Amino acid sequence: MFKNILVAVDGSEYSDRAFEIAVDLAQKYGSRLFIVHVAHQSMSSGTKVTAHIDEAFLDLGREVVDSYSRKAEERNVQNASTILKKGDAAQKIIEAVQAENCELVVIGSRGKGAFKELLLGSVSHKVTNHVKCPVLVVR
Ligand SMILES: Nc1ncnc2c1ncn2[C@@H]1O[C@H](COP(=O)(O)OP(=O)(O)O)[C@@H](O)[C@H]1O
Ligand SMILES: [Mg+2]
Repeated sequence: MFKNILVAVDGSEYSDRAFEIAVDLAQKYGSRLFIVHVAHQSMSSGTKVTAHIDEAFLDLGREVVDSYSRKAEERNVQNASTILKKGDAAQKIIEAVQAENCELVVIGSRGKGAFKELLLGSVSHKVTNHVKCPVLVVR
């Protein structure tokens, strides 16, 4: 079971906890672990300025996936890969789940958003509602 596990990371403490659980499960099941982060993207596009901003967002995103990738190495995860996308976070996570045939998604209940009274963030809400496989929501 769980040949391919996807963990969605945004650098929040929730996604740190989701990551720890995903690593543990990947090791127990001998799974391939896909560490996915979606970088912000400018609302508009097509100008030099937005191209620079998007490049900066991607650089920040690369730092996020790289930090988790280093943690996976430290924990001796045998089969981890990183996926860095840009755009709508939930949409891109859902696409990655399908593209990599993931059988389990591990995601934080909340992220770095400001509305702390909500039980579920918009990304975890949308992903949970749209993927066909089991989702482990980490609080
Ligand atoms: N840009 C992103 N890339 C990858 N995963 C994300 C991203 N944003 C959120 N997530 C995942 O979704 C979880 C919930 O975050 P989110 O729904 O954005 O809540 P909030 O509104 O509190 O930010 C995070 O803990 C993380 O696992
Ligand atoms: Mg968020």
